[in-house]
Amino acid sequence: MQSVNIAVFASGSGSNFENLARYFSDNEHGRVVLLVCNKPDAPVLERARNLGIDFAVVTKAELQDPERVMPLLRRHEIGFVVLAGFLPLIPDYMIEAFPQRMVNIHPSLLPKYGGKGMWGHHVHEAVKAAGEQETGLTVHWVTPQCDGGAVIAQRRVALSPEDTADDIARKEHELEMAHFPKIIEEILSQL
Ligand code: GAR
Repeated sequence: MQSVNIAVFASGSGSNFENLARYFSDNEHGRVVLLVCNKPDAPVLERARNLGIDFAVVTKAELQDPERVMPLLRRHEIGFVVLAGFLPLIPDYMIEAFPQRMVNIHPSLLPKYGGKGMWGHHVHEAVKAAGEQETGLTVHWVTPQCDGGAVIAQRRVALSPEDTADDIARKEHELEMAHFPKIIEEILSQL
């Protein structure tokens, strides 16, 4: 299996984008060659600039248009798509174009705390409100159902009753930084 060109889709800060881009800067399985972001003012764009990685701003409305998105992905010969904090729902044409080639990271142990409205701090606040004793990350295939695709990998971390929602967010984020690139590498190595 030769090295795959990876596109990361992100909407906000982009710590996962940067972590993936660095991890895959010299890796036999893949390389991050493109960032797609739906927000023209998202901090993740600055990270792409600093890393010298091509980026495109594709608004939520433009995302619906295959003629806007597919030529962009073809031009960069994208073979694998990673959603890392990308908020718009992925349109069907993209899901069909990347069968078993598109994954999402979600900051909870799905199926808990997934679905519409469950992103970022909303997830961690819900975990806190429920008094969970653990949280974690889930990497799953992307399907038309929001956060509903088959789970590929999960990583867990214990919580204590004193943990605030911010503490929970920090613990979960540490898991993302430590494990997400390796999980992607494992998937790519099995393509
Ligand atoms: C990550 O924690 C990711 O798990 C989450 O958004 C954050 C993006 O952070 N994704 C979702 O909530 C998807 N529903 P980042 O922009 O710093 O990578």
